[in-house]
Amino acid sequence: MISCSISGRVLWVELITFVKNIAMTDQTATLLSKSDLTHSDLITLLNAQGDLRKNLFARAAEIKNKCIGNKVYFRGLIEYSNICSKNCYYCGVRRENHKVERYQLTDEEVLEAAQFALDNHFASIVIQSGERSDHKFIDTIERLLCKIKKLSDSRLGITLSMGEQTEETYNRWFEAGAHRYLLRIETSDRELYSKLHPNDSIHDFDARIESLRALRRAGYQVGSGVMIGLPFQTIESLAHDLLFLKEIDIDMAGMGPFIEHKETPLYKYTGQLLPRQERFELSLKMVALLRILMKNINIAATTAMQTIDPQGREKSIMVGSNVIMPNLTPVKYRENYKLYEDKPCIDEEAEQCRSCLEARIHIAGNEIGWDEWGDSKHFALRMPDPDKVQLVDPKSINKVK
Ligand code: 5AD
Ligand code: SF4
Ligand code: FES
Repeated sequence: MISCSISGRVLWVELITFVKNIAMTDQTATLLSKSDLTHSDLITLLNAQGDLRKNLFARAAEIKNKCIGNKVYFRGLIEYSNICSKNCYYCGVRRENHKVERYQLTDEEVLEAAQFALDNHFASIVIQSGERSDHKFIDTIERLLCKIKKLSDSRLGITLSMGEQTEETYNRWFEAGAHRYLLRIETSDRELYSKLHPNDSIHDFDARIESLRALRRAGYQVGSGVMIGLPFQTIESLAHDLLFLKEIDIDMAGMGPFIEHKETPLYKYTGQLLPRQERFELSLKMVALLRILMKNINIAATTAMQTIDPQGREKSIMVGSNVIMPNLTPVKYRENYKLYEDKPCIDEEAEQCRSCLEARIHIAGNEIGWDEWGDSKHFALRMPDPDKVQLVDPKSINKVK
């Protein structure tokens, strides 16, 4: 298991070295001063070593500070249910993994987690779940959203991550109080997508893109992202992912390394994967490059990054991330929400994660935006409909102006 201890000399020395290394070097970084990075520039930067790599991280850190400041926002993560109707080849809770005990939180458990978020000044929660589209599920989520809004007197921001749904469902959940939605494209490479998913109508690449469009139409702040270091994935494909995320104009991003899971079909390719440390390094570069390409979006420092590197989330914050998701799922369920192996924070109570993350963010030289929704500035600026903008935390709109 990954240790979460933030004390210890080794960690400090490593972090100080990391900070020193990302200071801009004297060498002119012509590439990084370009206003628009091309596909071939992105490939060069994803392969960057030495000074170019340092300059890339330094440039991303500089852009983050200039465009969105050094605040990190907390989103309390509630892993609502591992029941999933899909069968993605990479995921530990896929329908055909019969070794997982399936669960769904009770309304009371969700409300308790939401209350914890409120009491701890998190200001926002993310409710994540396996994908289901039966009426019972849709109604339950709608009802829960209303209860959370009531409990918090509309003070809690709510992000959903529940996969592909119909436009009607997206609209209903939006009306009920959710205002951000995460739906990763996983890879923007159609051919690779087809190798990661069964070839059927519920795992359709075009349908996924259409869902991202539907979410935008419904008024959500839309988040997407990809996995990094997948079998068959190339640097060219990752460069394309970055351009794709820019092209669909996301408001938020969540990206992280692919981590193999024994009970999944992709496990057989373990021997062909990049070493984990390289997957981590590429993930850091993807975060930095996305920050350069999309200066005012929100980018999460994902748990998968910490799975590989004990200081993975701090490093991600230093090169461009500004959102972190402390786990609020009741501990007894966590073991069963393992999309990938070696997931950290399986045994830590919400309180422990909170203190741990707080210290980690300070080590990374950032502040925590307590009680602030910390909405995507990108969203506030692109939103043409003033009625919808009212759903954004007024504090964050003021900062945009
Ligand atoms: N490794 C890393 N990330 C994974 N996810 C699912 N399985 C894995 C894995 N094995 C990510 C997917 C999904 C998100 C909820 O979790 O990107 O969208
Ligand atoms: Fe289900 Fe999401 Fe896992 Fe795919 S990635 S199997 S949709 S939980
Ligand atoms: Fe450190 Fe969870 S205990 S982040």
